Amino acid sequence: MNRASLEKRPAEVAAMFDDVAPKYDIVNDILSMGQTRRWRRIVFDAVGASAGQRVLDLAAGTGTSSEPYADAGIHVVACDFSVGMLRVGKRRRPDIDFIAGDATSLPFADNSFDASTISFGLRNVIDPKKALREMLRVTKPGGKLVVAEFSHPTFAPFRTVYTEYLMRALPAVARKTASNPDAYVYLAESIRAWPDQDNLSAWLTESGWDAVAYRNLSGGIVAVHRAVKPSAAPSPKPAAN
Ligand SMILES: C[S@@+](CC[C@H](N)C(=O)[O-])C[C@H]1O[C@@H](n2cnc3c(N)ncnc32)[C@H](O)[C@@H]1O
Repeated sequence: MNRASLEKRPAEVAAMFDDVAPKYDIVNDILSMGQTRRWRRIVFDAVGASAGQRVLDLAAGTGTSSEPYADAGIHVVACDFSVGMLRVGKRRRPDIDFIAGDATSLPFADNSFDASTISFGLRNVIDPKKALREMLRVTKPGGKLVVAEFSHPTFAPFRTVYTEYLMRALPAVARKTASNPDAYVYLAESIRAWPDQDNLSAWLTESGWDAVAYRNLSGGIVAVHRAVKPSAAPSPKPAAN
C-alpha cells in the first residue's frame, strides 16, 4: 500500500493499518500533541458504562481505545479487521477480548451489547452508514452509541491554520517518524473530506439512532457524537373480538 488515496478498498485499508500497527500508538501521540489521552477519557465518560456491562469498541485497532473499559472492570470487546493491529494489541493487553470482524458485517448477535463506541475508526470504514446500522443492530434497545472522530474546527481562522497543519505538517512529521508516511497523507485527506459535526449527526439519525448530540473537543478538531438506540416498539395489542 503506497499510494495515498481516498478511493480505497477494505482490503487496502486493513493492509495499511497492518503496516502502521507497530508504531501506531506512538505516532498518534506525537501527531495529536498528547491530546489523545484526554479525548479518550471524555469518550469513556460519555459511554458511561459500569462494571459488568458489555461494550463494543469497534475499529479498536491496537486496543488503546478499549483499555479504559477493561481497567474499569467493563467487559470490552475490541473488534477490528486489521489482524496486524489486533496482534499488537493482544500482545500488550492479553486480558482484552480482541475479535477480528468487519464493521459493515459484525460477527455479533442482535442486541448483544449495552453500548457501542468507535474512536477514530468510522472515517476509515468504506461504508460508514452501514457500520452505524450494524452498531445499532448489535446494541440493546436503550443502549448508547459514542463516536469519536476528527472533525472541523468551528473558529474559521483556526480552521484555516489547522487545515494547513493537516495537509503540510502532518505528512512531514509522519515522514520522519512513521513506517508508512503515505498512510498519514491519507489520514490528512480523509479528515478534510469527512462530514462536519451537523452532517455526521444527520447520518446517525438516518441510521436509526435517537437523541443525537455532539460535543466539540479542542475547538472541533475532534467531535464526540452520542446517541441512543430507540427502545423496542411496544408489541401491538391483540385485536379486540
Ligand atoms: C485510526 S485506527 C483507530 C484505532 C483505535 N480505535 C484508537 O482509537 O486508537 C482505525 C482502525 O479502523 C479499522 N478499520 C477500518 N475499517 C474497518 C472495518 N471496515 N472494519 C473493522 N475495522 C476497520 C482499522 O483497521 C484501524 O485499526
